[in-house]
Amino acid sequence: ARPGFVEILGAQYPTDSITNITPAIIAKLPMRLHARPAHPLNTLRHLIESHYSDFAHLSSLSPLVSPFKNFDELSFPQDHPGRAVTDSYYVNRDLMLRTHTSVHEVDVFRSGKDRWLLTADVYRRDEIDGSHYPIFHQVEGARIFPADVSGMKEVAEDNARLRHLLAKANIVIEDVPHITATNPSQPTHDPMYSELVAENLKLSLNSLMLTLFGGPGIGGATPDAPLRVRWIEAYFPFTSPSFEVEVFFRGKWLEILGSGVVRQATLDTANVSNKLGWAFGLGLERIAMILYSIPDIRLFWSTDERFLSQFTDKAITTFQPYSKYPSCFKDVSFWTRQDIPLHENDFCDVVRDVAGDLVEDVKQIDSFCHPKTNRTSLCYRINYRSMDRSLSNEEANEIQLQVISRLEEQFGVEIR
Ligand code: PHE
Repeated sequence: ARPGFVEILGAQYPTDSITNITPAIIAKLPMRLHARPAHPLNTLRHLIESHYSDFAHLSSLSPLVSPFKNFDELSFPQDHPGRAVTDSYYVNRDLMLRTHTSVHEVDVFRSGKDRWLLTADVYRRDEIDGSHYPIFHQVEGARIFPADVSGMKEVAEDNARLRHLLAKANIVIEDVPHITATNPSQPTHDPMYSELVAENLKLSLNSLMLTLFGGPGIGGATPDAPLRVRWIEAYFPFTSPSFEVEVFFRGKWLEILGSGVVRQATLDTANVSNKLGWAFGLGLERIAMILYSIPDIRLFWSTDERFLSQFTDKAITTFQPYSKYPSCFKDVSFWTRQDIPLHENDFCDVVRDVAGDLVEDVKQIDSFCHPKTNRTSLCYRINYRSMDRSLSNEEANEIQLQVISRLEEQFGVEIR
């Protein structure tokens, strides 16, 4: 980029005194993990989209937004900590990386959609540990209804349908009142409408939790233990009443999402003043880590085939951990003896016996039978790798020599 400019996603932007976006972040902007075939985040997005199959599904909006859209338009106060340069990434004072998918609420509502999901990468400066990363992915979901008798009839019917569905499910819900003095309905809302909409929000998300976590083994110690979901009063500048949802997993309550009845100011700005509804935002990484048993958030960014090749499109599978340390392979070729059979499993047992857990895999890479002597020659490739340290080449050589002498002793092979 020219001096005084920074290049992001192929375009140049002027920098200023508050610019704090880093090359490491800029390099990751084009990755779009939530749209990569077979990536766990993409599969999870599809699962949520199929749960909300009659909603519009959006997933390709630019991460570059104005601070006005990210904060002011959603009623964030001037002194909200999220605005600080210590908390968010700024290209310059007029452009930043979105900190949440809620930034798009106004635009999507304005486009006329009344039920929609939006998936995107979001950016927050944060601490470094196994569950925090400066880039993560959110799904925003929203549904609005006509703010009149016909709209409320629609809500009531949907509530009846969802209540019926949940009554048959293996789920235990700890609820809080829809509206309280500390979690009030909005001044311009009929409290009865607000109650109905908050109930629709809760029923709809309880049924989503059942889709995501209702499989065996998540809720408790036994496969048929009920899924436990807990609702908590919360605060967001752009919803009231507001709630958080937690799910019980491995003895702990995990925060899954934020939600609430959309502030009328948002709908007014979007030119849909005559509507009323709810929105939620959930983080995909945390849920994917649970469902796939992925132990570290950095793995989502891995380009290692041992990570990527584990996953197939539209299936949730258990992550098989592999070593972070480099491997070292050694080949061995030999003539077998006709009178002493050597099965592949015999070969592998010799290797296991000598190398223990330092062997990662064994592959036969060649086999041929000499036409004249009728002897068979085999070549095996042994891949050595430790699960907890870097293995030196000398150490691998040492093990390989032991493997070879054991093969000679036990199976009388002739090394080539
Ligand atoms: N945007 C909020 C967050 O990132 C989540 C949220 C979305 C809350 C929609 C309420 C409604 O934490």
